[in-house]
Amino acid sequence: MPTITPTRLTELLTTMEYGPSPESLQPATDWLKQHASGFGVFINNQFGQPHDLFDTLNPANGQPLAQITQASSAEVDAAVAAARTALGPWQALSGHQRARVLYALARLLQKHSRLFAVLETLDNGKPIRESRDLDIPLAARHFSYHAGWAQLMPDELAEYRPVGVVGQIVPWNFPLLMLAWKIAPALACGNTVVFKPAEWTPLTALLFAEICQQAQVPPGVINIVTGDGAVGQALVEHPGIDKLAFTGSTEVGRLIRRASAGSGKKLSLELGGKSPYLVFADADLDGAIEGLVDSIWFNQGQVCCAGSRLLVQESIFERFIARLKLRMQNLRLGPPEDKSTDVGTLVSREQWQRVSQLVEGARHEGCTVWQASGGDFGNRRDSNGDASGCYYPPTLILGASTSANVAQAEIFGPVLVASSFRTPQEAVTLANNTVYGLAACVWSESISLALDIAPQLKAGVVWLNSANLFDASSGFGGVKESGFGREGGREGLLEYLVHKADDMRPAAPVFDAPALVPDAQADSQSGAKNGAGDVLANLAIDRTAKLYIGGAQARPDSGYSRAIYGPAQNFLADVPEGNRKDIRNAVEAAHKQTGWAKATAHNRSQVLYYIAENLAARKFEFAQRLQAMSGSARALHEVETSIERLFYYAAWADKWDGQVHRPPLHGISVALQEPVGIIGMICPHEAPLLGFVSLVAPALALGNRVIVVPSECSPLAALDFYQVLDTSDLPGGALNIISGSSDELARTLADHHDIDAIWRHDGSANGCREVEQRSAGSLKRSWVSGARGRDWFDPQQGQGHSFLQQASQVKNIWLPYGV
Ligand code: NAI
Repeated sequence: MPTITPTRLTELLTTMEYGPSPESLQPATDWLKQHASGFGVFINNQFGQPHDLFDTLNPANGQPLAQITQASSAEVDAAVAAARTALGPWQALSGHQRARVLYALARLLQKHSRLFAVLETLDNGKPIRESRDLDIPLAARHFSYHAGWAQLMPDELAEYRPVGVVGQIVPWNFPLLMLAWKIAPALACGNTVVFKPAEWTPLTALLFAEICQQAQVPPGVINIVTGDGAVGQALVEHPGIDKLAFTGSTEVGRLIRRASAGSGKKLSLELGGKSPYLVFADADLDGAIEGLVDSIWFNQGQVCCAGSRLLVQESIFERFIARLKLRMQNLRLGPPEDKSTDVGTLVSREQWQRVSQLVEGARHEGCTVWQASGGDFGNRRDSNGDASGCYYPPTLILGASTSANVAQAEIFGPVLVASSFRTPQEAVTLANNTVYGLAACVWSESISLALDIAPQLKAGVVWLNSANLFDASSGFGGVKESGFGREGGREGLLEYLVHKADDMRPAAPVFDAPALVPDAQADSQSGAKNGAGDVLANLAIDRTAKLYIGGAQARPDSGYSRAIYGPAQNFLADVPEGNRKDIRNAVEAAHKQTGWAKATAHNRSQVLYYIAENLAARKFEFAQRLQAMSGSARALHEVETSIERLFYYAAWADKWDGQVHRPPLHGISVALQEPVGIIGMICPHEAPLLGFVSLVAPALALGNRVIVVPSECSPLAALDFYQVLDTSDLPGGALNIISGSSDELARTLADHHDIDAIWRHDGSANGCREVEQRSAGSLKRSWVSGARGRDWFDPQQGQGHSFLQQASQVKNIWLPYGV
């Protein structure tokens, strides 16, 4: 059989000509002509008068497409007010009635799919093939999938209520698809929305507004305000918003975290990425090359989960790169509206300049920059975002060090940075060597290897032998600086819901923190306080409370203690005053304890049962401690309930499994419930043992490691807890206990870059705001009580799914088969 050499193949492919195959722009340009006077904002199902207009441009030729209103703050107010007014009537509808509205939106998107696709391509520069075959059908799928949830919500999510008025802000890379990802679940849950599209790509959102009128969405349920970041900021800061959902840059995500801190608004952030694309030596190389094209050149690489870091096993590296270059030569760069275009234009001149600067920076640093030449592509390679279009060639960068800017920064363009690895372990280390954690691809024909690697990758989504697969049924979202929260699937719905038990929570009781004294002074004070009549107590062997770090008792670095008194001002004990250094040591110990996350769920459950058993053996001693601290008549009941709570989470440890989704492809996606990592916790004051156990137990049950600060006012029972741990097989470092100032230790925990989440439940509104603000540094997840307390004895408030959800995050692993 005659064989064809790679050189001959290149010759053949580069000489083959495609005829032009343009999609008709007419319906879209006609629609734009109808709106030649400009678009106003969309509130209560009406378009407002256009004003303060700015142009939205066609990035393929730099020409204005339409004029858009920069919404005023009065309009943002009006949109939020409309959403608030609509909330009651919208929620009063049955699930079925809301499902009909969502279904109508899905149907209308399908009916006008070509108009939407052309408009999206004109406004964004993405190839029509992508907007037609992916963006628009997937947007419709989101409405139809969520119509199903609207129908099922009264049965399946009966213990939740809608969060309220939702502010949603999206970027320009998937304008309509992001709209669908945001609006469909919010509406399905019974919320109303104020939505802001990106200033560069508002057109499909405005066409969608017309669809809302046709679908008879009740007025005020969907409101759309246009404009730049200032409009986004007005939404973020608006007191009438109950939940914010943002997709965009990590930098703006941080601003939003800080700006909304302490407001009580729920927040989900879907931010940037620098996703690894791992190719093992046994991979199907042709498949891996095609997957790579979809991964980094889809939408010109302007994709948050683009596989922008190629990591190839060393033994096949040269071969793979040679094939890749060949494939790159054959990518068709061309007019976005042409049906045979593979790579269209970047979204704007600014984006073109940003990408180009990053690539030139790499060249300057000595990296090899390889760009395909010839054909259409060569004609366009020098265009620079002027009237000839924002075309940027597919680019491969070799020789970048792991710390090089191009290897770490999100380029958000058609630029791939490639390097090699030797062993699977090195692949995992390199893959995780980024501040981001959005997605990853693994290519290997060995199912055993692929399934071994996937859980080790710090990412919210892992595609096995595939790339950039999305579906409404499978949650999407990141970890680390890629943000928190999920969109899609059941987990995505929870972002738009509040557990009804939250509404029952009382105001937090007020406590005075005990004073801080140096160790020596504390000793003498304690003698004085106990008085002359208490000679025996003074003579008793001092039982010194210690910190508990890495499975061992530790003295505080500060050399300070604080005296804890009972309700009658009777001295009880000195407790160590932990500081920044103690937290640092605890984080190190927690990091070393990698085994706990890998322990089997059965094993974790057994350890929790054992802890409960050992607590039961000392229950009178613990009850005495509690009674001495608070005088509470419920002390024994508190210990008994703590034992029950340990049983409760021991029971859950091997049942919080996840789900298998059946997205519309030949394959499945597996939603794994993974531990968050290292969680810092500030405990409540009411019920000092039960509050401590109620936070620590779910976190440990799901494989997290914990650094916990017991109640500042009543820390003794939690400090005594190490005795229970010492006899319970919990590996050292899995639980670390640091007593001291809640504010001081919370600041350190929130600032720490090696902690993945922080929970603060001591009822301090200011402290909680500070935790949210500071956690923006590393974008760790936070879960705070605000000024509200909790009846920890009430199973509705003190335990349940909300705790387990906070202690876990979903990773969706996609497994297409038969390919
Ligand atoms: P951006 O994050 O500035 O904009 C996204 C959205 O946020 C837009 O609707 C914008 O108007 C709004 N916004 C801007 N400032 C705001 C503020 N202070 N408060 C509230 N809303 C605000 O993203 P931009 O400037 O369009 O792109 C810059 C870079 O960000 C890109 O080059 C890329 O690296 C990254 N990016 C990442 C995205 C992702 O999906 N992960 C999407 C878009 C951009």
